[in-house]
Amino acid sequence: IRRGFSSSIIKNGVIKNVTIIGGGQMGAGIAQVAASTGHTVTLVDTSEDILKKSRKGIEGSLKRVVKKKFADKPEAGEEFIQNVLQNVSISTDAGASVQAADLLLEAIVENLKVKQDLFGHLDELAPANTIFASNTSSLPITDIAGSTSRLDRFGGLHFFNPVPMMKLVEVVGTSTTSQETFDSLLNFSKALGKTPVSCKDTPGFIVNRLLVPYMMEALRLHERGHGSKEDIDIAMKLGAGYPMGPFELCDYVGLDTVKFIIDGWSAKDPHNPLFASSELLNKRRVLQVQVMCRG
Ligand code: NAI
Repeated sequence: IRRGFSSSIIKNGVIKNVTIIGGGQMGAGIAQVAASTGHTVTLVDTSEDILKKSRKGIEGSLKRVVKKKFADKPEAGEEFIQNVLQNVSISTDAGASVQAADLLLEAIVENLKVKQDLFGHLDELAPANTIFASNTSSLPITDIAGSTSRLDRFGGLHFFNPVPMMKLVEVVGTSTTSQETFDSLLNFSKALGKTPVSCKDTPGFIVNRLLVPYMMEALRLHERGHGSKEDIDIAMKLGAGYPMGPFELCDYVGLDTVKFIIDGWSAKDPHNPLFASSELLNKRRVLQVQVMCRG
């Protein structure tokens, strides 16, 4: 069924109603920030239990925000929390919750087929002018968008963890994303209080394209016997001014995640030396860098 234009939608490309699919670490964080900045949010996941946990997580995070922001006015802080929570509804019915959405933002498991199935299904149900976006870290937006018939209204909106703290959003345009869609996504990011940067749909966009090969080279450098993990971390912190060394960063991101990303890129571009593998990573033996390195 192809539905008509939803009445609420997109006045001059302004995004007010957001449906976020996936109430995990990223989805809940994005929901919190969107609701805190006056957007109406519906958070969707596969079970009520998960969604209740997401809501609790948002509430806990808001309490920490309020402790700092409303230190002298606890009542105003409590009111702020209640107002924000009122902006967030939860649902296990993605199809129903997308009916009034200006933006459908996906933050589910990092699996191309699962993302394609979700978007393909929702493309049939969502109003024609709802913009679709994915928060994927490593999959091509073009491949995800290909499951829909709204290639001009599809882009990437890549947030960073933890979302309430991290200022950056990478806005990703494919070769078919319209300028209007791209501008809406840029303006939405600004309305969230974030700083957007414009990216092309290339592996890792900007941040991960630089960061992942950097972490991989640190692993390979260590494997070549050219430095201990501890020394490499200390060197990059004290010599390059990075807040974490590459091994700490690897642990923070998660070894499985780093491996998943590099394997995916290497499968597409096997001769790119930046995407070469690491034995240590393949055996997941990078862990346990001393926390004393932490600055
Ligand atoms: P997560 O595992 O914390 O949350 C994923 C959520 O999606 C889970 O609650 C799961 O129940 C739900 N889900 C899975 N399939 C679903 C479906 N078909 N319909 C509805 N809900 C479904 O994952 P996380 O870390 O929040 O990552 C989500 C996405 O964001 C991934 O694509 C990831 O690559 C990306 N990302 C992750 C970052 C991170 O540092 N964790 C940073 C930037 C992007």
